[in-house]
Amino acid sequence: MLIFNGTVESIDWLTGQIAMLKVHAPEISDKILPGQFCNIKVSDNHFPLLRRPFSVSDIDGEFIFFMFDIHGEGTKMLSEKKQGDKLDILGPLGNGFNLKTEYHTAVIVAGGIGAAPFPLLTKHLKNKKVISYLGARSSEMLVSYGLQNVIKSTDDGSEGFHGNILQLIESDGALLSADSPKIFACGPTPMLKAIQDYALKNNIPCDLSTECAMACGFGICQGCPVETVDGIYKLVCKDGPVFEASEVNL
Ligand SMILES: Cc1cc2nc3c(=O)[nH]c(=O)nc-3n(C[C@H](O)[C@H](O)[C@H](O)COP(=O)(O)OP(=O)(O)OC[C@H]3O[C@@H](n4cnc5c(N)ncnc54)[C@H](O)[C@@H]3O)c2cc1C
Ligand code: FES
Repeated sequence: MLIFNGTVESIDWLTGQIAMLKVHAPEISDKILPGQFCNIKVSDNHFPLLRRPFSVSDIDGEFIFFMFDIHGEGTKMLSEKKQGDKLDILGPLGNGFNLKTEYHTAVIVAGGIGAAPFPLLTKHLKNKKVISYLGARSSEMLVSYGLQNVIKSTDDGSEGFHGNILQLIESDGALLSADSPKIFACGPTPMLKAIQDYALKNNIPCDLSTECAMACGFGICQGCPVETVDGIYKLVCKDGPVFEASEVNL
């Protein structure tokens, strides 16, 4: 984990609502595992005080990429950065996805901005078959950047299957017939909970990339607890953000 000044290279809008921030960050660009995140100070003054966590979405040489939507003041400030601006970054943080387990088919399940960590993960899935389920409220929140074999759903029916991502998975059937699948899921907690139940019911290994509001980002403030099935608490920032589906109570 390093703290350093990255330099903004560009911000591109992938849809009307989702942006991709490209940052020159040679300090860490060769040290990041898929599923890890960085804590970014979005302003040079005291507001907002806390850094904001963002998954590393992609890496290209000395550049790292963050995919984000405007959620509140912090992400709005981030969206207004210009080329050459300095960004105070802490990272890489967290554990990342577990790529060591045995599986043949990687099944990505991404809800809305939960697509963020998957371009980098997809680059690491060499020699695997990949299926990517991508769901969102509407087509403005669907970003298939860097994904392979994408099957889409929207809640409002504006693109792809009309329904939620679990309904898409159940109606499509490709997951259950896949050769030795493993699910990698990221998205809002209700979606993660539904995918967790589905994975446990069907005995499919599943990594869940969880989210919660954070302060320090590296295990000091104890502000990001998640309960495990054993009744003990782990920290999303340090022990996660990725947990095996059988490990946590969401
Ligand atoms: C490990 C991790 C990785 C993340 N990766 C990404 C990413 O790649 N792209 C992206 O767009 N976002 C990501 N997020 C979420 C992102 O950090 C928040 O959207 C951001 O901090 C909001 O800051 P803000 O100042 O714009 O909004 P705020 O003003 O801080 O918040 C606006 C509203 O959202 C709520 N909120 C804030 N953070 C969260 C959260 N994490 N979960 C649920 N509710 C929240 C607040 O309580 C408030 O109601 C990630 C979060 C975590 C924990
Ligand atoms: S955010 Fe401080 S311990 Fe996790």
